[in-house]
Amino acid sequence: MGLFQKFVSQTRKPEGFLGKMMLKGMNSGHAKLADWGMSYLPAFSPNAVVDLGCGAGRNAGELLKKYGRAHVTAIDYSPLSAENAAAYNREMIDAGRCTVQQGDVSDLALPAESFDLATAFETVYFWPGLEKCFAQVAKVLKPGGYFLICNESDGEDQTGLKFEKIIDGMKCYTVAQLNAALRAAGFTHVKAAHHPSKPWIMVLAQKG
Ligand SMILES: C[S@@+](CC[C@H](N)C(=O)[O-])C[C@H]1O[C@@H](n2cnc3c(N)ncnc32)[C@H](O)[C@@H]1O
Repeated sequence: MGLFQKFVSQTRKPEGFLGKMMLKGMNSGHAKLADWGMSYLPAFSPNAVVDLGCGAGRNAGELLKKYGRAHVTAIDYSPLSAENAAAYNREMIDAGRCTVQQGDVSDLALPAESFDLATAFETVYFWPGLEKCFAQVAKVLKPGGYFLICNESDGEDQTGLKFEKIIDGMKCYTVAQLNAALRAAGFTHVKAAHHPSKPWIMVLAQKG
């Protein structure tokens, strides 16, 4: 495996020196996509939010700013990502508004029906068994809770498909594929948007 392939493969589960390098650029690299996706969230005031596959933690930080009364839990199965997310959100952790946990979305150790909003930025590509993982998300959401997915790839763009070929275990999904898996996992209302000039997608699902 060449260095480029080794480096981009760190998006799946950052670890070691290359993982540290990847995490350094991740917050700024995904900020525009995350802000675009978050603009579709409804006007509401969640008490409990969970950011799944949180990476270096910037988006959890934005959710804490956006929802001044909410507690935000940030989860990642990479110890290095969790460490970076905790460092990024240190003040909010100390203030009791944020928790960072190491955990796998395929087996979430979180209380059932406890979150108003779950978010997943640039991460569902790597989740093992989409329906199973989405069912885990549905389990921890309260009835009526929202699940926001934001991806830089719409499942058909050349860049996404190129990375899919070189990153082991990566799968780029179309809106139709995400919609089907969400509905199979128990989400009822699903809406989606495509960025006007980029292959970015956001899917917002609600638990019935
Ligand atoms: C490309 S990064 C995106 C990070 C962050 N959401 C962002 O937008 O900057 C993908 C992250 O998802 C995490 N991840 C992938 N599969 C996961 C799983 N099954 N459970 C928890 N985290 C996962 C990876 O460890 C990595 O930190």
